[in-house]
Amino acid sequence: MLDAAMPIEIPPHLLSAARVVASRRDMLHRLPRNCAFVEVGVGIGVFTHEVMTICAPRSFVAIDDFGLDRVELLWGRPSAEVFEGWGHQGFYEHRFEREIGTGLVTVIRSGSAAGIAALPDDSVDVIYVDADHTYDAVRADLQACLPKVKSSGRIIVNDYVLTPADASGLRFGVIDATNEFMIAHDFAMEYFVLQQDMFCDVVITRSANINRAGFNQTDEHAAAVRRGLERRIAELERSSSWRITAPLRRASRLLRRR
Ligand SMILES: C[S@@+](CC[C@H](N)C(=O)[O-])C[C@H]1O[C@@H](n2cnc3c(N)ncnc32)[C@H](O)[C@@H]1O
Repeated sequence: MLDAAMPIEIPPHLLSAARVVASRRDMLHRLPRNCAFVEVGVGIGVFTHEVMTICAPRSFVAIDDFGLDRVELLWGRPSAEVFEGWGHQGFYEHRFEREIGTGLVTVIRSGSAAGIAALPDDSVDVIYVDADHTYDAVRADLQACLPKVKSSGRIIVNDYVLTPADASGLRFGVIDATNEFMIAHDFAMEYFVLQQDMFCDVVITRSANINRAGFNQTDEHAAAVRRGLERRIAELERSSSWRITAPLRRASRLLRRR
């Protein structure tokens, strides 16, 4: 049971590979293309759109209870205006009509943990958890994610922060539930993802992925940069300027040896 007086501290070995990245977009660029992606809590589809654009997933499941149209005001505007008269689910489905039509996007209207539980086991590469931020809800969502995420997969937890942006005085349970989950299930932090108001994300994966592969090999972004550099060097070596300057490079090496 959670004891508010006792912060749940993540042990160093689950943090040693973590890197800080600038934004969610930066994080998405580091994730694998063509993967099975699930977003839990999709809102009006801002992040869904970014995932589609940057990651080009082969499948995308959107889980939400689509209840935001029952709220009077959203971001200071009447919710009916935000949803342009479509209602929450209708707005989301209209926005991704083409992707739903091709079967790329599947929409599950459900409470978050039950929606996650409905996914096939061992089927998910990346799951983004961004629904109810209370301790009990995040805990239940993460528990539900455990059998669904492939051994090489990642869980991303949004709003790794203590309090919401409003003046409600609420305490989010995201940090406690995430830290507890990491320790209980040996998940390591791969990325700490900055956001301008510090509503940060954390990307976690089974620690064996980090230990076995070595951090650089699991980092898609670093691997892509390395492949690009290797290609460039190979092109240079084949180029005539590389061959023409070969005697000069040999001479400079000889000079350096003296
Ligand atoms: C902050 S919005 C998600 C924003 C979206 N992930 C993005 O970054 O663009 C949170 C969403 O979670 C949904 N939600 C909240 N509690 C939920 C629950 N218990 N079960 C399912 N969905 C829930 C809300 O309907 C809302 O669409």
